[in-house]
Amino acid sequence: MNPVSYEIIDQIGVIAVNNPPVNALSFAVRSGIQAALRAAQDDASKAILIICEGGTFFAGADISEFGKPPKEPYLPDLIDEIEASGKLVVAAMHGTALGGGFEVALGCHYRIALDTARVGLPEVKLGLLPGAGGTQRVPRLVGIAAALQLILDGAPIPAIAAAEAGLVDKIVSGDLRVAALAYVQELVARNAATRRTSELNVPAADEQVFAATRIAVAKSARGQTAPLRIIESVQASLLPFAAGRKRERELFVDCMQDPQSVALQHLFFAEREAARIKDLPRDIGKRRIERVAIIGAGTMGGGIAMCFANAGFDVTLLEINADALARGLSIVEKNYAGSVQRGKLSEEDAGACRARIHGVTDYDALADVDLVIEAVFEDPQLKKGIFAKLDAVCRRGAILATNTSYQDVDAIAAATGRPEDVIGMHFFSPAHIMKLLEVVRGEKTAGDVLATVMALGKKIGKVPVMSGVCYGFIGNRMLQGYFREAQLCLIEGSTPEDIDAALYDWGMAMGPISVADLAGLDVGYKARQALAPDQRGDPRSYRVPDALVAAGRLGQKSGAGFYRYDPATRAKSADPEVMQIVEREAQALGIQRAPIDANEIVERLIFALINEGMNILDEGIAQRPGDIDVVYAYGYGFPAWRGGPMHYADTIGLNYVIERIEEFRERYGSNNWQPASLLKTLVANNSSLARWAE
Ligand code: 3HC
Ligand code: NAI
Repeated sequence: MNPVSYEIIDQIGVIAVNNPPVNALSFAVRSGIQAALRAAQDDASKAILIICEGGTFFAGADISEFGKPPKEPYLPDLIDEIEASGKLVVAAMHGTALGGGFEVALGCHYRIALDTARVGLPEVKLGLLPGAGGTQRVPRLVGIAAALQLILDGAPIPAIAAAEAGLVDKIVSGDLRVAALAYVQELVARNAATRRTSELNVPAADEQVFAATRIAVAKSARGQTAPLRIIESVQASLLPFAAGRKRERELFVDCMQDPQSVALQHLFFAEREAARIKDLPRDIGKRRIERVAIIGAGTMGGGIAMCFANAGFDVTLLEINADALARGLSIVEKNYAGSVQRGKLSEEDAGACRARIHGVTDYDALADVDLVIEAVFEDPQLKKGIFAKLDAVCRRGAILATNTSYQDVDAIAAATGRPEDVIGMHFFSPAHIMKLLEVVRGEKTAGDVLATVMALGKKIGKVPVMSGVCYGFIGNRMLQGYFREAQLCLIEGSTPEDIDAALYDWGMAMGPISVADLAGLDVGYKARQALAPDQRGDPRSYRVPDALVAAGRLGQKSGAGFYRYDPATRAKSADPEVMQIVEREAQALGIQRAPIDANEIVERLIFALINEGMNILDEGIAQRPGDIDVVYAYGYGFPAWRGGPMHYADTIGLNYVIERIEEFRERYGSNNWQPASLLKTLVANNSSLARWAE
């Protein structure tokens, strides 16, 4: 079916596009628009309107066509043809006019938008630049500095703000089609010119802005190539339009061929795919969730309460006593004040969100809620006791969730008479900010409970990924090998700074040693103590952390851990005392310390992640490699432009990964290094994770 229709209404040629779900500018859409545009040049229409049906104006080029041979008409050429039209062309935008979609609008002579619409150029998030004239036309309309900001940021802005900036001509409310037709009539009546953005001059700018932006981007988009190409492309807008457009095209092609863009596109689709549970029908019925209760107002409970309150839910927050409740609520208030200070929320909105959170100390208050999320101390007995209590007080059909980081969700579910209603909802700290939500499916969790929680996660702005039950689920289980290798590198010869710098420079948001200090060394210590000695992993890997805990060094919270922290500024510095402890423990173990190069540090840590990821796939704990990538990109500061650990493994080649793991096995022993059987099978079959996942 042709997604593009054309008809003349009151002398206006209306090109209407209907290409669900987001009106992506696929080949069929581009060729349909071109045919209609050409027909309109010679018919009785006086002007042309481009409008979309469904929920949105074009949300961009069709990303699923990337990497395939391009088919004419190419989008940039089509947009030039629109702009060159002898008859007036107007774009009418609603929903999200993004990327190539917004570039179509920029090629039109006038732009009208609904007051609810959002516009933007999110290409940078896919490792691309707006390659259909965006880097050339936006500077001509709003100047260099504003163009750089919009394109480098990539976040959509309200159409109203775009109108104030000069990117949109008219804002309307109500029926867009009616308003747009009236607007075109008005333009025709006043003989409005075919205003071509490409013919404008870029407003004069201080050339310093480019150098300053390069410096800023080196920090804010560390390691990424697309932002630098964006700056260069915007700089090319100072050339005559045709030359600038040519440069934009070359830089766009460079982006397309860059593994960073392939990685970011992979994550875009992986995130959406992760929402789908393979063995559940898409249209499975879901339970209604309106009232939510959280048990425990500590670090996690308070943040989780904020997530739901911010999304408009009524939240009951239960603590053990009035003091603990007051402490928890005061942290919530401080967090809201912080959001207001940082301009994330208006004072009024923050007040409204805060007012949705009601503190209680009595379980009777939970009788009618639709969902309870337990976030008390990580103590299995305590958790089981709470679930037994919930079983007694909560209404039938309520969903009972635990935020446990490691505990067995099935054992917790067994403490109730309704294990089918029990599920894990593993948020990440700080819970009101971090996007990842691991949804842990117990052996008996009902399909509709799982589907409800996955959908709910999206509703509160999280990225939900399903995990099966195992110690640490997907993310924390993989982290064990990563942290083990960090500690082994430390005791074998590196310093905390060497290890952190190696991983940070490779792209991780934070080095592993700093992460341990941030999380608190006592947390890992207690988790180890709760395990039988033979389950704690290589004892050499926790000699130093145990010694630090024994010395009262618990990390940032106690002012010292692997580093020392300035009490006033929290700035960290290296601490010779730590190196004395490291040397002492190494000596006690008979280890001759010797420096380890950065590449080996990175490979030992990252390949440990990859290998465990393979085991997780083999056991069916994660549904697909992409799910693991989403977990790491959204929950663990893994550089999105490397696509996540599993995509990265495919990128460098599984042959290389196994070769290095086998070398590590030879050198460091088979207790820590055993190539996963899935890795062996894939290498033997000359295959990849991407192919395995198909
Ligand atoms: N191409 C192909 N498919 C797309 C798409 C695109 N540009 N944008 C969204 N989709 C698909 C999604 O994969 C999803 O498919 P699925 O249902 O099979 O999983 C479906 O549309 C719905 O998407 P969402 O689940 O994301 O729906 P939301 O309503 O939450 O969000 C959206 C809608 C804001 C449009 C969001 O999808 C989005 O941000 N899309 C990407 C926009 C973008 O990056 N555009 C720029 C593309 S690059 C470009 O234009 C290059 C040019 O400069 C030359
Ligand atoms: P926390 O110690 O900050 O908070 C726990 C809260 O639970 C305390 O305020 C305590 O008073 C309250 N509490 C204890 N027993 C209670 C009871 N019987 N009824 C009501 N309230 C009770 O702990 P945190 O860090 O918030 O952790 C909570 C859970 O979240 C744990 O299971 C933990 O593993 C998990 N988690 C923690 C993360 C983190 O980074 N801190 C990340 C993800 C999950």
